Amino acid sequence: MARRARVAVLLSGRGSNMAALLYAAKDEDCPYEVVLVSGDNPDAAGLRVAEAEGARVVRLPPPKPTEKAQFFAALNGELKNEGADYIALAGFMRIIPVDFITQWAGRIVNIHPSLLPKYKGLDTHRQAIAAGDRFGGCSVHIVTAEVDDGPVLAQTAVAIMPGDTPESLAERVLIAEHQLYPRALAAFVTRENDPAWIEAKVAELALALPETRFKTSHGSSAWRVGSESSGKFFAIMWKRFHGEDSTAVLVKCSGQDELAQLVDSEPDIYFRPAYYGPSDWVGVRLDRPNVDWDHVGQWLQRSWRAVAPPRLTKLTRAADQF
Ligand code: GAR
Repeated sequence: MARRARVAVLLSGRGSNMAALLYAAKDEDCPYEVVLVSGDNPDAAGLRVAEAEGARVVRLPPPKPTEKAQFFAALNGELKNEGADYIALAGFMRIIPVDFITQWAGRIVNIHPSLLPKYKGLDTHRQAIAAGDRFGGCSVHIVTAEVDDGPVLAQTAVAIMPGDTPESLAERVLIAEHQLYPRALAAFVTRENDPAWIEAKVAELALALPETRFKTSHGSSAWRVGSESSGKFFAIMWKRFHGEDSTAVLVKCSGQDELAQLVDSEPDIYFRPAYYGPSDWVGVRLDRPNVDWDHVGQWLQRSWRAVAPPRLTKLTRAADQF
C-alpha cells in the first residue's frame, strides 16, 4: 500500500474528534495515520484516550501568556521531529501565531461546529438557534491566519429540531463531526496524489502567466506562451516515469549540464524525460508528499521566460526592476 500521510492531531479537551480520526486510521485502507497527539493542555482527557490507543502523545506545559512563541516553537520542533505532513486541529482552542501557520501553509485543517462562513468563534449552536436557522452543522476547513476562516473542504448540515437547545443540537452535530472529519481528512491528504488535482494546480499556475493557453502535446495536457499560431510550449504534463505511473510536469532548464546536475542531486524530484531525447526538458515529479508549489511556480515562470517572445519577456524584465 502507498505511504500513508503522517498526521499530528492537536486538541485542548475531550478529544472525541481526535478519537474519530484515530479509529478511522485503524482501517488499513485509511490514507493517513495519526503519528502524534499533542496540545496546549497536558491534562486534556483526549490525551489519555490517545495514549490508551497506543498513539504517541507529547505533553507540553501550557503556555503562559508571555511565552506563546516558545510554546509554538517547541510544538513545531515535535511536529518536525515526528515527520508530520499535516496537522489536524480537533478542538484546539488556541489562536495559532501567523508565523506558525505560514510554515505549515495549506497543511493545517480544522473542524468547526457551524456551517461556515456562518458563526465563527464560540457559541455557534446558540447563534444558529437564535437566528431561526433550519440547519446547524459542521465544517472542515484549511486553516489560514484568520480564525475559523480558510477554504472549506467539506460540510454536513444538521437539522435544527423544535425545542432544540444549544446542548441538544451540539450532541447531534458532534455525531456529524465524527463522520465528517475522517472522511474530509482522507480526501484532503489523497488529493495531492490525484492526477486531476495536480493537473488543475499546474494549469492554475501556468495560466496565471502572461499570454498563455492550453494545448495538448502528443496527447498530454500542455501550455504554450505566445499567439495561437506561433506559441511555444513551456509546460507539459507527464504521466509516466520509468514505467511506473507517476505525475510530473516537464519544464525547460538551461540544457544538458543543468539537467544532469538536477537529476544527480535530487533524483526523487527531477528526471530526464527519455521520450524527448536529449533536450532541455526536465521532469519535475508532483506526486510526492510536501510538494513546494511556490517552487513549481518558479519553474513554470523560468520555463515561460525561456520560450516567451521578447515583447513579453521585455515587459516582465522591466517589471522586475521595481
Ligand atoms: C468540537 O465540537 C469542535 O468542532 C469544536 O470543539 C469541539 C471539540 O470537541 N471546535 C471549535 O469550536 C473550533 N473553533 P472534542 O474535543 O470532543 O473533539
